[in-house]
Amino acid sequence: MLNKIGLIGGGNIGGVLMQLLVQRKYARNVAMVDIKGPDLAAGKALDIAEGSSVIRSDVHVVGSKEYDVLEGAELVINTAGVPRTVRPDGTIPSREELLTTNLKITDAVSAGIEKYCPNTILISIANPLDAIVFRLHMNLKFPRERIMGMAGVLDSARYRYFISAEAGVSVENIDAMVLGGHGDNMVPVRSACRIAGMPVEKFVSPEKLDAIEARTRKAGGEIVKLLGSGSAFVAPAQSALEMAEAIIYDKKKVIPVSAYLQGEYGVNGQFVGVPVVLGSKGVEKIIEMDLTEAEKQAFNNSAASVKKATDEVLEMLK
Ligand code: APR
Repeated sequence: MLNKIGLIGGGNIGGVLMQLLVQRKYARNVAMVDIKGPDLAAGKALDIAEGSSVIRSDVHVVGSKEYDVLEGAELVINTAGVPRTVRPDGTIPSREELLTTNLKITDAVSAGIEKYCPNTILISIANPLDAIVFRLHMNLKFPRERIMGMAGVLDSARYRYFISAEAGVSVENIDAMVLGGHGDNMVPVRSACRIAGMPVEKFVSPEKLDAIEARTRKAGGEIVKLLGSGSAFVAPAQSALEMAEAIIYDKKKVIPVSAYLQGEYGVNGQFVGVPVVLGSKGVEKIIEMDLTEAEKQAFNNSAASVKKATDEVLEMLK
């Protein structure tokens, strides 16, 4: 158990994170900051605190418009930023189209972290995922162990769910990884997908797998369309807590996260989704998977899209 977890952003994902943290008791204190008035974070914290006796939780929750509420947090999860939402003409924007707005927010987030919890481990969820975490890294200059993006857990969870439904077996039996950037050309790694230790192709035809992988790549957009306003928020919160749990309990769990690569997978100076060992120090090791030639090619394409977004980040700084 930690002493304090900080949440930046108290919207849809931030709200679910706070509820789950109070239920799961990962820390004695949970503090949330959100700039939305009159005081969204204080309101959410009070609502959750008022239910805490019912769920028998003594986790102490506070919310504020001011970043000082994060003072001393050992783990911070950042969700500050606008989500995708359906346009009036029914189309949906790409995550990359959020960049300009969310970069400004990210700079305010960085300043708050730097001032009140510079030694924290940081998990970021705001989109476009890999570019935002790149900017946080530029601003904060944290060692790469302590800064990462949450996307691979979510994308892999979606892939696993679709496969379990098609194969007619428990989600618990599905082992799968989705790597690369958190965009429409992310890479579901079929060669590493197993059902109870057996190759996925034993249960699902190649044609169905093609369709499932295409659906996985667009799964975020599918939810955006259905909701009509905003984007997915329950599975993203659960996925970030999978990472938090591995860190808090030093589980040394192999999980795909957006990590700062320094030559691994042929990528240098960018955040891209790869399997890592997550433990109390954060990203303790990056694992280089054996990919097929086609998967390597797909990974390189995905990393090239991430580079385009991070180049835009650098361009905007000029
Ligand atoms: N500091 C703190 N909070 C901020 C700031 C800031 N500088 N700027 C904006 N916020 C808050 C907003 O006030 C809002 O309450 O971030 C919150 C975001 O919540 P939602 O709009 O409900 O978005 P959510 O669905 O939670 O998604 C957050 O994660 O998955 C990504 O694409 C998604 O970028 C989006 C982010």
